[in-house]
Amino acid sequence: MKTYKIAVMPGDGTGPEVTAEAVKVCKVAADKFGFKLNMTEFDFGGERYKRTGETLPDSGVEELRKFDSILLGAIGHPEVAPGILEKGILLKARFALDQYINLRPVRLFPGVETPLKDKGPDDIDYVVVRENSGDAYTGAGGITMKNTPNEVAVQSAVYTRFQVDRCLKYAFEYAKKHGKKARGKGEMNTLALCGKTNVLTYIYDLWERAFHEMGKKEYPDIRRDYYHVDATCMWMVKNPEWFDVIVTGNMFGDIITDLGAITQGGMGIAAGGNINPEGVSMFEPIGGSAPKYTGKNIINPLAAICAGQMMLETLGEEKAAQKIDAAVRFVTANKLKSLAAGKMGYSTTEVGDLVAEKVAE
Ligand code: IPM
Ligand code: MN
Repeated sequence: MKTYKIAVMPGDGTGPEVTAEAVKVCKVAADKFGFKLNMTEFDFGGERYKRTGETLPDSGVEELRKFDSILLGAIGHPEVAPGILEKGILLKARFALDQYINLRPVRLFPGVETPLKDKGPDDIDYVVVRENSGDAYTGAGGITMKNTPNEVAVQSAVYTRFQVDRCLKYAFEYAKKHGKKARGKGEMNTLALCGKTNVLTYIYDLWERAFHEMGKKEYPDIRRDYYHVDATCMWMVKNPEWFDVIVTGNMFGDIITDLGAITQGGMGIAAGGNINPEGVSMFEPIGGSAPKYTGKNIINPLAAICAGQMMLETLGEEKAAQKIDAAVRFVTANKLKSLAAGKMGYSTTEVGDLVAEKVAE
């Protein structure tokens, strides 16, 4: 039987509670579809940092390399200064494992309320491919004359052609396989580049040339659109149905995917994948650790379950992934009163059970 080695990092706050439900659902799917998930837990997170001063050590990265995939709960601790755990664990894993794609589906599930007026599941149904290794996230820059009136801070947005090309390749391939035409939901598969060619005339010039070169030569059947990032934000609110697959740099991707998340019902449901197509990928609910709800069994586990769903899909277990997707849709459409913590009409574990039962059917 096919066995996958999964590293589970439940993390902080409500991370362990939601991760347990994701593991539960993935295991039921594995039983049903004939594969095995061999889970190993790691305690990287705020508690461990407080105890040992360690975030994600190099030895931890080497450990993680041995797995087929990583499932992450949440990183963030109220007693640890902002930045330490994010940089030391989340960004460290992304960079050290070269997870150069951040994949963020923006899908409104049935029965879920969106702040967008008159928009439904058919309108809010696209994916953002966020580049995950470059841009202002590389740490290029510095501060000189700190704490003097002449202080200077520089933080550079950096892109190489190699980084841009490998991201575009993933995005075009994704559009070809999972675009609206491929899913029987439109006449074209469309890839939109989100940039800022009118101001960031170096890096988005590179992106734009690479985008059209690759598209023209290798993906002539995929429609290519271009939007400035500010306009992208407007259209994501006004006409989300225009989008199919969006590809963008790391910084813009960070911002527009949170906008996307709130249009799909918020942190209770939004999941993402940090993907190295040739290596070890890491999947996470994109909400934080929500410490005030810790241990109350009221946090919504659907985002973590959707992260597990993305993990199985990326591992190639597409039938299992589809079944989980359908089960989550069933639960949002027919069961939950709300996605908000404490207002679902069910506890965290009950929501996990509802999805698991549906997957087992
Ligand atoms: C995200 C998060 C991270 C990011 C933070 C926590 C470092 O906001 O995954 O979008 O900026 O990438
Ligand atoms: Mn973010």
